[in-house]
Amino acid sequence: TLPAVRIVEVGPRDGLQNIRDSIPTSTKLKLISRLEETGLGTIELTSVVSPRRIPQLADCRDVLGDEGVRKIGEKDLRLPVLVPTVKGLDIAIEYGVKEIAVFISATEGFSRANINCSVEQGIERARDVTSLALNSNVAVRGYVSCIFADPYDGPTQPASVLRCVKELLDAGCYEVSLGDTLGVGSPPNVRSLVTFLLDNDIPREKLAGHFHDTYGQAVANVWAAYNCGLRVFDSSVAGLGGCPFAPGAKGNVATEDLVYMFHNADISTGVDLSKLVEIGVWISDHLKKPNGSRAGAALAIK
Ligand code: HMG
Ligand code: MG
Repeated sequence: TLPAVRIVEVGPRDGLQNIRDSIPTSTKLKLISRLEETGLGTIELTSVVSPRRIPQLADCRDVLGDEGVRKIGEKDLRLPVLVPTVKGLDIAIEYGVKEIAVFISATEGFSRANINCSVEQGIERARDVTSLALNSNVAVRGYVSCIFADPYDGPTQPASVLRCVKELLDAGCYEVSLGDTLGVGSPPNVRSLVTFLLDNDIPREKLAGHFHDTYGQAVANVWAAYNCGLRVFDSSVAGLGGCPFAPGAKGNVATEDLVYMFHNADISTGVDLSKLVEIGVWISDHLKKPNGSRAGAALAIK
């Protein structure tokens, strides 16, 4: 049988962070608890970032402190929280968070816009946060954004991506997720970048794929990355997602679409697709958005 994949559900974080209308904390909590019931092994809960920059996730303390979320936290599940600074780490630790995700950009323009510092300073900050987290027994996942292009600077040099991946792994991240923040890459770009990273001694089991779907390439990109040996993929239920500092970028690849594809290929995900489809319909309804998952929308009317 073909090897299994691990899906990192980023709906409650990437999925919601760019939505203008304020979403009640209770809806976020319901989303998290419903996702947990689908068999997903990893759910990114929220971000501890500047509430001025990402107002939608300003309720991170209420999410992290919720009794239901704490109960889920006692199970054998990864529940990372996006954390860019030591201040954010301190808050996360105060709330008992056991895993964080640090994030840097391979490119200067997005680094400035997103985290208000240069790539170099971003690497330094991620290194400090990672080292402090590991000292507190908090696991650290890493993200590198703009793997193919930057909204302000244009195409990205593969060597910059390599450098960032190496830095995060050296810092102690257990895995680095490659972010096509703008959703502009296609399967040949994925193959070429991943091959370049593997040829430069980055172990395949340390890499994950994080594809936004602006150009409708995200499912194909996941498949291309799978065929290069990657086994971990980030996605959002109902294809929610986007970053306010990457204007025009669409949501993440939809979790339903990924699960549908992998199950059809006889590759296990551990996820109950029918439950996921119901959640996608429910959250889209709640947010008054069209369902961004094609498989989800199709299965819902069957
Ligand atoms: P800064 O803008 O450089 O300024 O912050 P600062 O460090 O002086 O902090 C500004 C204020 O934020 C200060 O408060 C700090 O205390 C506070 P003030 O003095 O003004 O009252 N602060 C914090 N507050 C809460 N939590 C914190 C924290 N740290 C500082 N952790 C910072 C730097 C990175 C914090 C800021 O620029 C920021 O929050 N940016 C938002 C970044 C973000 O969340 N972007 C979206 C997620 S990344 C993404 O979507 C890409 C990804 O999905 C992968 C991909 O698709 O490529 C991961
Ligand atoms: Mg993203």
